[in-house]
Amino acid sequence: MKAAILGATGYTGMILLRLLSEHPEIDEIIAVSSSRAGKSIKEIDPGVYTAVKNKTKLTGGELLSVAEAAEMQPEVTFAALPHLESAKICAPFFEKSVVIDLSADFRIKDPLIFEKAYGQPPERQDLLNKAVYGLCEIYHDEIKTANLISNPGCYPTATMLPLIPVLKEFGVDGKIVVNALSGVSGAGKKAVFNNLFVERTENCGAYAPAKSHRHQPEIKKELDIALKSAGRNGDVNLFFTPHLVPLKRGMEITTIIDIPEETASRLSDEALDKLYTKYYEDSSFVAWDSGRLPQTRDVWGSNSCRIGWKIEGRSLMLFSVIDNLVKGASGQAVQNMNIRFGFKETAGLRVYGEL
Ligand SMILES: NC(=O)c1ccc[n+]([C@@H]2O[C@H](COP(=O)([O-])OP(=O)(O)OC[C@H]3O[C@@H](n4cnc5c(N)ncnc54)[C@H](OP(=O)(O)O)[C@@H]3O)[C@@H](O)[C@H]2O)c1
Repeated sequence: MKAAILGATGYTGMILLRLLSEHPEIDEIIAVSSSRAGKSIKEIDPGVYTAVKNKTKLTGGELLSVAEAAEMQPEVTFAALPHLESAKICAPFFEKSVVIDLSADFRIKDPLIFEKAYGQPPERQDLLNKAVYGLCEIYHDEIKTANLISNPGCYPTATMLPLIPVLKEFGVDGKIVVNALSGVSGAGKKAVFNNLFVERTENCGAYAPAKSHRHQPEIKKELDIALKSAGRNGDVNLFFTPHLVPLKRGMEITTIIDIPEETASRLSDEALDKLYTKYYEDSSFVAWDSGRLPQTRDVWGSNSCRIGWKIEGRSLMLFSVIDNLVKGASGQAVQNMNIRFGFKETAGLRVYGEL
């Protein structure tokens, strides 16, 4: 199958290039760059270039322009582009190729909520309702027939995989507090003063606390859907605070949720083990363990999310880790492609981390 990667020179684009290079169902990769079309792929990834150039996977070995890529009619197009740019740059591919968008451009259906978070209305409001939210383990059936898949953010993925089953099963009493730690690659490759080595090494801190981060509405929207789908009333009151830590990649999320009195008597280690088995038994990428708190190293380089927890009376603490560039972005995008095209769901993806 022929796949295009738009934004191939960015962090998630480069990971896609590597994952697709080893994917058994991908014969041809069209690596696309808005700023460096015509340059050799060798310049951005000499390793991949050397490893796969003789297998003719890399079309011509050069980065192509968006127009050249559209003419080649890829069956699947990955958009690893900044939000607000992505929906514009993808225009020639909509309806002609299955588009898997890693940006936020199709994640929020309500244009006003999107505008509040991203400062501008969504570029393609006409397509918002056609886009399926690509949180693979939750929207598996919808993804199978989607022609536009909106890949979730890394913070939302790691927050929601442990939380959605809990919300549906037990409900919530009061606010949900989420503290998230992220490696610096989560901010992308662009040069930003705050992400310089000297600013970030031996240093960490919170940013955009409580309700001011762009991912807060994306997470809240999905948690509200989960609550309602389980027949529970009310909106989620979500306090989400990200922290930047001196890691290249990796993400750890700690969530605190109080369980309502009516359902708290059912809360136990055994009940949570059964709950995650019910939701994720068929998933190769979600693993849980009541006795051990997960660490980012467990999942580094893999498409997995590992979950742990601690119960204190009616309060439940959930701990989850992912690699922000893999399950949080490019790996989940490949998983979405695998589901959409009926490939083995684990094709081209690792299920365990590297030391
Ligand atoms: N980094 C993560 O952990 C992560 C996790 C989840 C989701 N995401 C999302 O995935 C998307 C890509 O993220 P990333 O981390 O790969 O970003 P990045 O490293 O900054 O790369 C983005 C790429 O987009 C291309 N681009 C095209 N038009 C652009 C423009 N006007 N301004 C800047 N870049 C432009 C550039 O490549 P060319 O010039 O070669 O086209 C650039 O290399 C973003 O929407 C991000 O929010 C990222």
